[in-house]
Amino acid sequence: MTDDPVIIALDVESAAEAQDLVRQLGPDVSFYKVGLELFTAAGPDIVRELVGGGKRVFLDLKFHDIGETVRRATAQAARLGASFLTVHGQPQVMQAALEGRAEHDLRIFAVTVLTSLNDRDLERAGYDCSVRELLNRVVDNALECRVDGVVASALDAAAVRRHIRSSEAAKPGHELLLITPGVRSRGAARGDQKRVATPCEALRDGADYLVIGRQVTRAADPHAALIQIRDEIAAGVLHAG
Ligand code: C5P
Repeated sequence: MTDDPVIIALDVESAAEAQDLVRQLGPDVSFYKVGLELFTAAGPDIVRELVGGGKRVFLDLKFHDIGETVRRATAQAARLGASFLTVHGQPQVMQAALEGRAEHDLRIFAVTVLTSLNDRDLERAGYDCSVRELLNRVVDNALECRVDGVVASALDAAAVRRHIRSSEAAKPGHELLLITPGVRSRGAARGDQKRVATPCEALRDGADYLVIGRQVTRAADPHAALIQIRDEIAAGVLHAG
């Protein structure tokens, strides 16, 4: 596990809102996720600004395109100074992202299965496998390609770790980092998240990083909500309310 596992998702609609949150959270947050909404609204400048202010940035843009496009776009993400980037978990895409980051200090994470999808959704999309089977397949491919990590629901963290241990694709000397969204403190509002784990459950199950959004960003007092989560992690609170 890493020293500070908390990544706050800046899921807001403007640079001004993001800047306001970053100001409120101050030195207690060092790692932010910039996703599709904020990147589309505020562009690469918001990433440059965060990096310039000493923050690490997880660029969650889930690239999925032909290899050449992914390679070139990943090179741009690396030049921006992002620390983490997500791409879809297809071998061609992951390989292209690894080529694009070249010698830069940018870690590539493969998205496994979006947490909003269930078996029925996969069937409708033309997949002939369950969520669990697809998750395992993507993890195998991520191990095969030697990306830096995968993103999976907090509730799948234990299964992902088990699968990594037993996978024939695992290579000596290569560790997969695990980022998990779907985390909520005991008793916190769940929003649209039906299946949630507490921060400590996710860490216990093998997560290295927790992506936390609305519990902090939509709180009346974001800093107080953050401190509650940090206290909870320090105290090892395990049961979701
Ligand atoms: O729910 P919360 O606001 O904490 O979500 C933070 C991040 O986790 C979002 O930016 C989204 O990428 C991810 N998420 C997810 N699955 C959900 C809800 C959110 O992967 N069901």
